[in-house]
Amino acid sequence: MNLKLKVFVSLLCVTALYLLLGGSTSEYLQLQDTSRCACDKCLTENDPWLMQRLDKSVEPFLSANYNLSEDAFNWWKRLQLERRNYRTYNTTVDRLFQMFPPSPDLIESSPDRCRACAVVGNSGNLIGSHYGPLIDFHDVVIRMNTGRIKGYEADVGIKTTHRIMYPESAIDLDNSTHLVLFPFKIQDLEWLIKAFGTGFSGRSYMPVKSTIKANKDLVMVTNPGFMRYVHEIWLEKKGKYPSTGFMAVILALHICDEVHVFGYGADRDGNWSHYWEKLKDTKLKTGVHPGSNEYNIILQLAKQQKLKFYTGW
Ligand code: C5P
Repeated sequence: MNLKLKVFVSLLCVTALYLLLGGSTSEYLQLQDTSRCACDKCLTENDPWLMQRLDKSVEPFLSANYNLSEDAFNWWKRLQLERRNYRTYNTTVDRLFQMFPPSPDLIESSPDRCRACAVVGNSGNLIGSHYGPLIDFHDVVIRMNTGRIKGYEADVGIKTTHRIMYPESAIDLDNSTHLVLFPFKIQDLEWLIKAFGTGFSGRSYMPVKSTIKANKDLVMVTNPGFMRYVHEIWLEKKGKYPSTGFMAVILALHICDEVHVFGYGADRDGNWSHYWEKLKDTKLKTGVHPGSNEYNIILQLAKQQKLKFYTGW
């Protein structure tokens, strides 16, 4: 064999070996990936773009054994100008878990199930969308605040497995819906304890329900450390703090295998108007939240196929 032929044959062998190994490696990774859940496509761990941001070590929910760092508390206390200290926070959380489940009622991931989640924001773009049946088709349907159902079933569906709220946005729930509290101050934790008991009589920046009807065993409380992570990592510290809706999307990326997002997007004047009411404050914009940054990240997540975004009508 002359030298040229030798080089050619060696190159051919190396290429064949590379293709053989490369092919089997990717097949192996694909197999691993699909075996993590029973959806067509699971939110993958082998994705550098997502892995740069999605920190699975951050607990989305508080539990009796979890200790919030003082550093995270100091970030959280600035959101709604909390004056009380870390010790008071900790004793309040201890009281909380004497009343509510010590660990959150989460569906564990399994190769046998697909945790398909619909996250439903409150945007006016849901009107006329006919998304109702599609939303209800999901195993988990996460709604937020006072998002209405009655009269809007065709566009928003009727199923709610989780409703995110804070005291100022609280509504009564049926017995099978998880109440997911997003706490922004120590008083919000106290509200939860009192609203399920003798009644809350404190004051806030707007009227607050004194009592709440909901299943005590399905209460979950978001970790202030998770809120900080969403603000610092996902929003790169933009805006005062993330909106409820944006935190809900990131929460879904942490607890679901497949995420479908509905009801996000400002109206044509840039206001976060609701599908069930005429906007009262025409200068609302997106409040203290970095609405356009949040929207762009949702678009980017959709582009990267990490979630499916239904932009409405
Ligand atoms: O207004 P509210 O806070 O109850 O809405 C829930 C969430 O839905 C917001 O935090 C925001 O993320 C999202 N939203 C939106 N566009 C709107 C209204 C709300 O993206 N027009």
